[in-house]
This record gives sequence, C-alpha cells and structure tokens, in this order.
Amino acid sequence: MKVSRVFFLLVIFASLLGPVGCAQQPVPLSILQPDSNLNAKPEKKYEDLIVGYAQLGAESEWRAANTISIKETAKQLGVELRFLDAQQKQANQIEAVRKLIIQKVDVIGISPIVETGWDEVFQEAKDAGIPIILVDRRATVPDDLYVSYLGSDFLEEGRNAARVMAKLVNGEAKIVELVGTIDSAPANDRYTGFREILKSYPGMKIIDSQSGDFTRARGKEVMAAFLQKYGKRITAVYAHNDDMALGAIQAIEEYGLKPGTDIKIVSVDAARGAFEAMIAGKLNATIECNPLLGPQFFELALKVVNGKPIPKWVPSIETIFFPEDASKILPTRKY
Ligand code: AHR
Repeated sequence: MKVSRVFFLLVIFASLLGPVGCAQQPVPLSILQPDSNLNAKPEKKYEDLIVGYAQLGAESEWRAANTISIKETAKQLGVELRFLDAQQKQANQIEAVRKLIIQKVDVIGISPIVETGWDEVFQEAKDAGIPIILVDRRATVPDDLYVSYLGSDFLEEGRNAARVMAKLVNGEAKIVELVGTIDSAPANDRYTGFREILKSYPGMKIIDSQSGDFTRARGKEVMAAFLQKYGKRITAVYAHNDDMALGAIQAIEEYGLKPGTDIKIVSVDAARGAFEAMIAGKLNATIECNPLLGPQFFELALKVVNGKPIPKWVPSIETIFFPEDASKILPTRKY
C-alpha cells in the first residue's frame, strides 16, 4: 500500500473517532457538578456554639445544682453561654426566650416553670430557625416545637414515693401532701403517679394537699397550717421535693412532734440536705431526681446544630435512697 493511501485511511479513521482531547468527549457528571463535600458546612465544635439558657429561677437546692451544672459544663467545654434567670415568673421566662432569639443563639435550653403557655414563643424560635431543648421540665406543646426533652420521669418518681411510703406505714396512713409549683410538670406528674399506686392501698388516705411552691419557706408554712388543722391525726408527709420536706421537718419539730418517727416523711430530689436529715433520723426516704444535666444538654445541643439525629426524650438515670445508706453516700453527693 502506498504511503499516501495509508495516510488517507488514517485520516478517515480518526475523524470517525472524533477529535482526541477535545470537550466533545463525554465528561463524568461528578466533574461538572460542584463537589458536595467541598460545599458542606464544616461540623461545629463546642467552642463554636452560642447557647442560650432560660432558667426558671432559684427556688431550691436542686435548682442551684442544676444552674451550676449548666454554667460549669459550658465553661469546661468552651461553649459561649447566655444564661438568663426568670426569677420564678413565666412572663420573664418568655421574655428571656425572646431575647435569646434576637441574639440569634444556636440553640435555646429551657426548664419551663409551668407546663402550658409556650406555643407562641416556641413557634417564634422555630420560625427563627433556633431549636429548643427542654431541660428538666416538659412543656405541653406540639412535638415539632422542641427537638428533645432531657430530664426525669416525674410520674415514676411519684409512683416510687407511694411504693416507699406504703412499706413505711404498712399500708395505713393519713397523709398530707406538699405539692410543688402549681401547673409545673413535676408537680402534676408526682401528684398523679403517687395517686396511681395509692389505689392499691385503701388504708392510705391523702387528707390534705396544698402547694408549697417547691420552697423550704412555703413548705414550712403549709405544714404548720396542716398541723394546726389536723394535729396528731397526720401520720405521713409526701413532699414533692426535699426543700419542702425540710421546711415541714422544722414545722413538725416546732409543733412538738418527732419528724421521721411520729410522722413518716418521703420526698423527692436526693439533695445533700435530705441526706443530712436522713442521718438525723428526720426523713425516711428520698427519691432521686438528677439536676446534673449540663453535660448531656450540651452534647444534645452540639448534635442538633450539626444536624445529627437525637432522641425525643433523654431520661435521667435515678434511684431511691434510705437512711441506712445515708452516711456512706452523703460524701459522694455532688448536690
Ligand atoms: O423540676 C425539678 C424540680 O424543681 C425539683 O424536684 C425541685 O426541687 C425543683 O424546684
């Protein structure tokens, strides 16, 4: 074959293949499209977070421990914390959430003072793209208005208080109840849980039930009034928290009776003051409610900000304490 003929055939063959190295070649789709990894936002770390916290107040030993846990954990992790204290008023707490929305924090944590009345302000947070995490107390709102609830099973705490009380009094008692803050989740659930179990003990009667607002001072006042009204007919006290039980103990002593002996007392929280009272024989049991929620709260906050899935309820792990173990356990208590 002549050289010119070979060259001619080669040209035809090349034109059929198309120009080599030119843009007409099929290009993989992934090269044309922007790299999704390049555009993805880098994951935030604790030090990048600005977290708002709307605390309800400082009504109890429990609350003081809860606030310290939130503040100290933020410091340890390097989170910027905007902490607001509502001083026991729902209006202040709603205002606090609004301030945090204006400040464009990444996440808002809140311990709602009462269960109802949050829909509007939580919706405002949602509209601003700020997730709400309920800490310690639930709120009665649609599920889409908060991302998670971190806290106790208050119903079970109420049930456990009744179970323990039933053993202490052998199923026979005239009980007065010191209720927590009216309409708060722990007061509602501890009230209901206690009564659920009492149905099985017809000999145990609640003869009166009043709110002591979770404070020692009110607990003492209400107990003094109960004693004036019922005197020695009272054989047991169920207090929705330790602070009110400690107030009741003072009232019982001032009335001239022996708390823990003449009147059996069961409360909730397991704060240090309760352990001291158990060691002194003045309190018969305390059902734990854990306030040290700081580490779990910030872990949840970081996950939410980074779009990671989180459970709708993260329950605290809790137990029951009795006087016989109190002196051994007291030194280990952190609140
Ligand atoms: O919400 C938790 C409750 O609030 C605690 O039992 C009580 O002590 C506090 O004030």
